[in-house]
Amino acid sequence: MGELSGDEAKALAGSLRRLMQLTANLVEQDGEAAPLLARLRDHLGCELAQVLSVATRFEVWEHVNLQRGVDAYLAEHTPDAEWFGVGGHHRGHEDIMGMLLAARHSVGVGLGAADYATAAVGPEDSVEVVQLGLVPTTAPDGTPVLVGIRGSNDFGPPACRLEVLAADRAAARAVGGEIERSMREHDVFRRQVLAFGVSEHRGNELLTFLPRPALGADDVVLPDGVLDRIEEHVVGIAEHAERLLAAGQHLKRGLLLHGPPGTGKTHTVRYLMSRLTDCTVILLTGQAMRLIGQAAALARRLQPSMVVVEDVDLVAMDRGFAAGPTNPLLFTLLDAMDGVGADADVTFVLTTNRADELERALADRPGRVDLAVEVPRPDADGRRRLVELYGRGVDLRADLGPVVEATEGVTASFIKELLRRAVLGAVRADGAGGVPVVGDELADVARAMADERASLTGILLGGSKSTATGPGLGGPGPAQPGLAPPVIAVRATKEY
Ligand SMILES: Nc1ncnc2c1ncn2[C@@H]1O[C@H](COP(=O)(O)OP(=O)(O)O)[C@@H](O)[C@H]1O
Ligand SMILES: [Mg+2]
Repeated sequence: MGELSGDEAKALAGSLRRLMQLTANLVEQDGEAAPLLARLRDHLGCELAQVLSVATRFEVWEHVNLQRGVDAYLAEHTPDAEWFGVGGHHRGHEDIMGMLLAARHSVGVGLGAADYATAAVGPEDSVEVVQLGLVPTTAPDGTPVLVGIRGSNDFGPPACRLEVLAADRAAARAVGGEIERSMREHDVFRRQVLAFGVSEHRGNELLTFLPRPALGADDVVLPDGVLDRIEEHVVGIAEHAERLLAAGQHLKRGLLLHGPPGTGKTHTVRYLMSRLTDCTVILLTGQAMRLIGQAAALARRLQPSMVVVEDVDLVAMDRGFAAGPTNPLLFTLLDAMDGVGADADVTFVLTTNRADELERALADRPGRVDLAVEVPRPDADGRRRLVELYGRGVDLRADLGPVVEATEGVTASFIKELLRRAVLGAVRADGAGGVPVVGDELADVARAMADERASLTGILLGGSKSTATGPGLGGPGPAQPGLAPPVIAVRATKEY
């Protein structure tokens, strides 16, 4: 067969195009897509071929904000607008425009009801969000547009999309811009306590809402002046933010709390969270550290805010998620801290059991952490106060001297557990009635628990006596890092 001449090729191409168009029109007229396409045409006033789509991608967890932004836009421009969906085999398409284009030619795609999903807006509350749907509305200048939401799905990348369809690009852009602006205005994350987690399920579970703790200064037992110093740094700067900024001072701050496990680092963070009720808190534990970049971006957006990175020593040791051996996750964290502007009212709080491991990295990159505070094991006075604190509701008329002595070297969490066991013992002995009278028994229980210190229970409770040669997590010697993560994971789930 001879080659096609240029003219012949053109003619053939033209015929093929016509043939395809004819076939497509037939499908359009007779197929299930007809009502869907008619709906589009009627509202936008043009054929699908002339429709432009302005799409914006957001992180999965922004789905709920996207819905809020669209809802606010609709309330202002077309309060009675009704959502509709694209039914059928659309899943292969990440974008709504692609689905519509495919609808012209495929069987089984047509007008349907919008799909809905639920998304959390607080620790207890959730709302419905459009998972896949379109709604007719108008641009601020009156141009008809269609607004579409596509939530993340198993087939596409973990992201959600806003698509604005119109015959006119400027109109579609204007609507997209307005929606984004109102997303920020109605941001559901503001003033919330948020935890990034690594979920097997995708979607909003990556970012969960936690209830804000309610701790008073009396609930935190630390050596004199320690809590004040921490509070002055974190809360004091927040309280005078405007004047500091006006005087050209930076607001961003980095706090490192270090000390053995169970001495109250997390407890202190919870206290700070209780104090700063206006502050958005973003918690990162364990493997969620991978999301530090996104967390820092959220913190910047939602300031005043606090980013809490727990157990950074584990991060420092874990090179598994690093971009390379020279760029461990710890440096990513320090870079993220650096990336937030100095004028941002953002506090980074890092906690660690092993400050020695971090020392070099932090020294190599000065300025990220501007206050490091040791959270030590309680001294005798601290232990007495802890017994009183956790002995609330317990008769403590007895002399506390013996128990204070018997608990030398233990951590605060150990004393808390001691009280629980003592009360449990008293309740058991006492049967059903009355306030359990402990006191003298406390020292006995403490001694019994001390014998357990070398056991796993003792180690996990922070009962290790020696700070230099502790057998496990208690000392800076070779720890058992494998033991720590499960404890963290348990804590990170529903409460902080
Ligand atoms: N300094 C403290 N004052 C009062 N309670 C404390 C203190 N330290 C620990 N606790 C109690 O022990 C529990 C565990 O302590 P945590 O703050 O998680 O230790 P860390 O984070 O230092 O390992 C806390 O939830 C709290 O109930
Ligand atoms: Mg902790």
